[in-house]
Amino acid sequence: MEQVFKAIPVTDRVYWVGAVDWALRDFHGYATERGTTYNAFLVMGDPVTLIDTVKKPFQEELLARIASVVDPRLVRYIVSNHSELDHTGCLPEVMEIIRPDKVFASAMGVKALQKHFRPDLPVEAVADGTRIPLGDTALLFHETRMLHWPDSMIAYLEQEKLLFSQDAFGMHLATSQRFDDEVDPWVLEYEAAKYYANILLPYSNLVQKLLEKVGQLGLDFRLIAPDHGPVWRANPKRILELYARWAAQAPTRKAVVVFDTMWGSTDRMARAVADGLKAGGAEPVVMPLGGSHRSDVATEMLEAGVLAVGSPTLNGQMFPTVADVLTYLRGLKPKGRLGAAFGSYGWAPKAVPQINEMLKDMGVELASDGVTAVYVPNEADLAKCYALGLELARRLAEICPPA
Ligand code: FEO
Repeated sequence: MEQVFKAIPVTDRVYWVGAVDWALRDFHGYATERGTTYNAFLVMGDPVTLIDTVKKPFQEELLARIASVVDPRLVRYIVSNHSELDHTGCLPEVMEIIRPDKVFASAMGVKALQKHFRPDLPVEAVADGTRIPLGDTALLFHETRMLHWPDSMIAYLEQEKLLFSQDAFGMHLATSQRFDDEVDPWVLEYEAAKYYANILLPYSNLVQKLLEKVGQLGLDFRLIAPDHGPVWRANPKRILELYARWAAQAPTRKAVVVFDTMWGSTDRMARAVADGLKAGGAEPVVMPLGGSHRSDVATEMLEAGVLAVGSPTLNGQMFPTVADVLTYLRGLKPKGRLGAAFGSYGWAPKAVPQINEMLKDMGVELASDGVTAVYVPNEADLAKCYALGLELARRLAEICPPA
């Protein structure tokens, strides 16, 4: 019978042995419309080494792909670069089957794995800079604490000049293609940006330090193999450049107008704000929360200079979907953004001041106290919204002049 799940060669002795999750649509609050992959890699060195495992339901697929190259019981080392369950869910079971000589993780990784599974799980800590020979090549480990967990580390395979980068430089994208040059370039960069915006943005200062460290170490990458999405082989420098740009968090002329509405009043106000932004030379992107997921708002915010937020007042509160997206964005800690609030109300204008407080708490610089309208905005209210858009665009031009 023909082998079903086969390994895919990445180099002469490195194989992709991961799994494609075509069905995933939610990754802890991040909408994954295109599914994802859980990448694991087999290094046919001496000894044979497995880099990361996969989410628990995909254990059979992982083992079958390994078996298409080598008897899984001949794998002697396992490296766990990151202990989140999408990469370790089946680790204890795989260890039971393979019975490796050693399992390596960072010191924080050892603690995390033992906390997730069992206190006596046999995992050996590798310090930052540890080099483990694998015959005529070697793995060099570097800790990347808080990118994006305390345990995170990366591993560089010397002779192949291949970086196993765990979550960094990855994306949620289920495809039959395993390499960057096989994927539509627009999809590739959109999903990489979405991943950065939703997972790595809060750690942008650490990304900058990592990129500096990589420069200082003089590591030359021929390939970057993340734990999600395609392997970067055609132009690995491209994703490094993109990360440098996203980590800098420099605002562009883009202005995100995010809102929800009960009876259409705040919707009309949002469109007037967007018109003012456009007239002032900004590039508004209007995102009604009835049809925009929080993680797509975060993606649009990655390089936006303005965040304008609209909400009606419901029972003395901002609308629940608006609270959801602001809570999510606050956790992602975007830097250097301008903002403002607007919204309709019936008898007490509570939402706008509440949004102002949330925006201030996020470090967003308010361009005004906001605009409110009783029940239904009249021409004067809409003119105030338009003026708010103009003012945001004027302030944006001071920090990001038109080209
Ligand atoms: Fe892909 Fe942080 O796990």
